[in-house]
Amino acid sequence: MGAVDTQLFDDNWLFSRFGLQADGTSVPEPGNLQNTEIDDSSWKKLDLPHDWAIEGPFRIELTGETGKLPFKGIGWYRKYFTIPDGDAGKQFFLDFDGAMAYAQIWLNGQYVGTWPYGYNSFRMDLTPFVKIGQKNVVAVRLDTEKWDSRWYPGAGIYRHVWMIKTNPVHVAHWGTYITTPVVSDKSATIKMAVTIDNQEESSVVATVNTQIFELDGNNKPGMKVASFNQSQVKIDAKGNATTATVTTIKSPKRWDLISPNRYLAKTTISVDGKVVDTYNTPFGIRTLEFTARNGFLLNGRRVEIKGTCNHHDLGALGTAINTSALRRQLTILKDMGCNSLRTSHNPPAPELLELADQMGFLVWDEAFDCWKNGKKKNDYNKLYDDWHEKDLKALIHRDRNHPSVFIWSIGNEVIDQRDVEMTKHLADIVRGEDPTRPVSNGYNDPDGGRESGAVVALDIMGVNYFFNQQPKWDIDPRYANKPTIGSETSSCVSSRGEYFFDTEYKNWQITSYDSAKPGWGCTPDDQFRTNATFPHLLGEYVWTGFDYLGEPTPYNSDETNLLNFRNDPSKRAELEKKMNELRKNKAPSRSSYFGIVDLAGFPKDRFYLYQSHWRPDLPMVHILPHWNWVERIGQITPVHVYTSGDEAELFLNGKSLGRKVKQAGRDFRLVWDSVKYEPGIVKVVAYKNGKQWATNEVRTTGTAVKLYLTADRNTISSNEADLAYITVKVQDASGLTVPRTHPLIKFKVEGPGEIVATDNGDATSFVPFQSHEREAFNGMAVVIVKAKKGSKGTFKVIASSDGLDDGIVMLRAK
Ligand code: GAL
Repeated sequence: MGAVDTQLFDDNWLFSRFGLQADGTSVPEPGNLQNTEIDDSSWKKLDLPHDWAIEGPFRIELTGETGKLPFKGIGWYRKYFTIPDGDAGKQFFLDFDGAMAYAQIWLNGQYVGTWPYGYNSFRMDLTPFVKIGQKNVVAVRLDTEKWDSRWYPGAGIYRHVWMIKTNPVHVAHWGTYITTPVVSDKSATIKMAVTIDNQEESSVVATVNTQIFELDGNNKPGMKVASFNQSQVKIDAKGNATTATVTTIKSPKRWDLISPNRYLAKTTISVDGKVVDTYNTPFGIRTLEFTARNGFLLNGRRVEIKGTCNHHDLGALGTAINTSALRRQLTILKDMGCNSLRTSHNPPAPELLELADQMGFLVWDEAFDCWKNGKKKNDYNKLYDDWHEKDLKALIHRDRNHPSVFIWSIGNEVIDQRDVEMTKHLADIVRGEDPTRPVSNGYNDPDGGRESGAVVALDIMGVNYFFNQQPKWDIDPRYANKPTIGSETSSCVSSRGEYFFDTEYKNWQITSYDSAKPGWGCTPDDQFRTNATFPHLLGEYVWTGFDYLGEPTPYNSDETNLLNFRNDPSKRAELEKKMNELRKNKAPSRSSYFGIVDLAGFPKDRFYLYQSHWRPDLPMVHILPHWNWVERIGQITPVHVYTSGDEAELFLNGKSLGRKVKQAGRDFRLVWDSVKYEPGIVKVVAYKNGKQWATNEVRTTGTAVKLYLTADRNTISSNEADLAYITVKVQDASGLTVPRTHPLIKFKVEGPGEIVATDNGDATSFVPFQSHEREAFNGMAVVIVKAKKGSKGTFKVIASSDGLDDGIVMLRAK
């Protein structure tokens, strides 16, 4: 929210790409593109957010780890805008939510500043260079040639840009900080610090008033519940000052996972009786307790962390932030029972925190994937010395009022993880800016950080994957009181709808029996067993909720995986051999297989395994595989069942194949591994505590005859950023989805809508996401649509394929 006079600054930019191009050629970068007078008439017109690499093309020779997408290049953006005469005397700021990478900014040819780390948000002060009453031109240079990544980082001004106009006396950037040191059912103590900048030539006395209102789920303020005593502060010329005030809220409504209540602090700054600035700070009231023996307590109630790690891309949209796309992801994760998000491995888009606040997710807010030593040549190591303090502070100042943020993470599997001094130094920076939340770090060396003592500086030990040493550290006096969390777990890999019986890996796909994992990983079931063995763990973050662009392990023809075993020479040698084989074969894979949900947003089988465990009160039962195995008649075809019940009976064509019971803490799926395939109906009846709990069935389908479309929302806003996701199912005559079918589907829109992207979740597809034609992958595809800019009315989305009846869905743009 922030300053009231904030305008989106996304429209009507001009863009041109130099250096490395999409096709691998290079175009020399002309000098002085920041100048006011240059010929930019041929530059591409576009609106932000913009990811210049997502249009591809995918190129087989590019590395899989960054999605085989040509993200490297030098991008220039320019935008002309006029500052009206009436704004004379104001301050002008551009707030960038994120620009990948090495951003440099000029206004009217004059250098304003830089922010190299592509994931952080930053402010540029345009005031000294603005021309009042005239045309201005802002120029932004980005350089991803200098940035290496272990996943697809995207490229460009991929998040929003805002113009903020203030008076010379105004609330500083991220200048409010609210904490709730004492909370009970009767009342909550609210502390607020407000930092005010004075850009006048003389000192001023500013009067600060803040009132607190309830805030509803749609960000609408409601009833006033409290106010702070008015305070006055003297601020030197060109200086700043901070005031701190305290108030109480009676019978506070807590922010919690199911009832994410929030409040809004509305601050006004006055000078000489005149209001000069108004600033809004949403916040929440909740208590956090992290214990070594009794887990994590939210508002006094134990909450097991059922978390997922996620990278920042939005699949077919690339990294260009879009709130409807992100909300869809979080809605799917919530349905699974996920209650926490790890922003691996970088500061997230502000929208993620806003949605987490609104929807009730806890957030592990992460700063870095490396410190002083890079995992890649041009990693954060190049920035560490000059920027780590600024980057950490920026992250914390931006995010510390969000109730969803509950843990700060200073890193992930950093090479320097044993370094006692560096760990302490970074943790101290964090605590200096926000002492109300614990600091953690994700360790892949299970002993290193604890052996060296680096973990002493942290509040929470984050274990990535390796839990076998846990008992030893639980009794080490240095860590006996240190809460531990599974900061990264499982890394199971699978392809939606693919089932293999003689192997786990075939045709660059991976079986969906949820058994495949890399050397350092484990199945979800194994992780659940581990969690049950260490009941004091705060919980886990599964790698990953969604598939993401890049890192298509095990078809990753690069050295990413080696990092996981860098302390184990024999494993390293084995993996190097594997990698060399992969290089020869040129794996076509361009996105990950780790997701519980595929890149198109379709749940894989694993979704139901997590749901069965994470939502024990939801009656559900899921069967795999599908039952279209014409070539397997008479062959053993194992059937796995995921249920929140404790027992189930399986039937094939009406015949019972027996009842199986889960042993608590040991079994997380029920397996009938000697089923002989015959076409027909597989039915399951699940029980809980002896009573029928849920049923489900899969049937052998007929041949495909039609396409069937359903939209996740039938009404969207005519605002360009609002999207609807339309699921396409290839169906037989009775409406069953035909699982092993991949027809080419053509999409079109009639009326005031347009296609944004298509996908099908196949990690090996090189069809550009912008294409209006795409094959179904195992019977499904998705088409993402929006209203034409500014148009209202009804539009029709049509999917057609040779030999199949069209699928049609109507949407309304309002
Ligand atoms: C972890 C790493 C993640 C991802 C994952 C794949 O070691 O932190 O970023 O690479 O492995 O399993």
